[in-house]
Amino acid sequence: MGSAASLPAQQVLETKQEFPFNENNAKCVLSKIDSDCPFESKEQVENKLRSLGKDLLVQLLAGNHIEASELKSEDDLVAVVKIVLSLDFWRFNAQLHPNHGRVKNWLWVHSRYRNQMNDLLRIASGSFETGKTKFEAFQKKINSHSDFEDNQLFKFFCDEKLDVEGFQELKKQHEDDEVIQAVRNAADSESLVKALEEYVSSMKNHLELEERTTVHLWLNLSNLQYARFRSYLSWAYSMMY
Ligand SMILES: [Fe+2]
Ligand SMILES: [Fe+2]
Repeated sequence: MGSAASLPAQQVLETKQEFPFNENNAKCVLSKIDSDCPFESKEQVENKLRSLGKDLLVQLLAGNHIEASELKSEDDLVAVVKIVLSLDFWRFNAQLHPNHGRVKNWLWVHSRYRNQMNDLLRIASGSFETGKTKFEAFQKKINSHSDFEDNQLFKFFCDEKLDVEGFQELKKQHEDDEVIQAVRNAADSESLVKALEEYVSSMKNHLELEERTTVHLWLNLSNLQYARFRSYLSWAYSMMY
């Protein structure tokens, strides 16, 4: 269950993490402040944040489990807001978050898949038959992982009306089996390795998009929302969460 603990804002600044200020990150920042606020430029986001004033910035950060009342400079406050509300901050710094336990297993499973896909490529380069067998075993695990996401994890976020569009895109990617079929259709070593390279690249993009879409929302669910989330989980997938 989530706690009321917070991460000191100074620690966020000390990560010295900077992220490209792109359109997705800007939308993500602005949607936390005012969902109708249009995004046109980097300056617009800067001005919007500065127009809030210190108290509101501190409040905004508190809603994201960051304790910022000690920060004196408005520049620092704006910098922290931009860092923590950008899509990649929590994905790479989840261990700093008081609610890290919520996402730990799922991120660990993703990192195992990334390693196993590298192994798969190496194995398939050495043996066509073993490559094919290992691929099917791996794909079986991915299917069960995707079932968990579609029926529990992503379903919860959609039901809560949190980034519905983002989760629908991820579900659509689960249904796309073109790269899988190409691996199955490969008739010789060379085409198998080529098809697997495509598969691995598309799967790694999928995992990245999932983490960018999910981690910051999952970590910052209120205790009430998190209790509702728990009711979506079944023991069948207990390794995933
Ligand atoms: Fe997935
Ligand atoms: Fe996943």
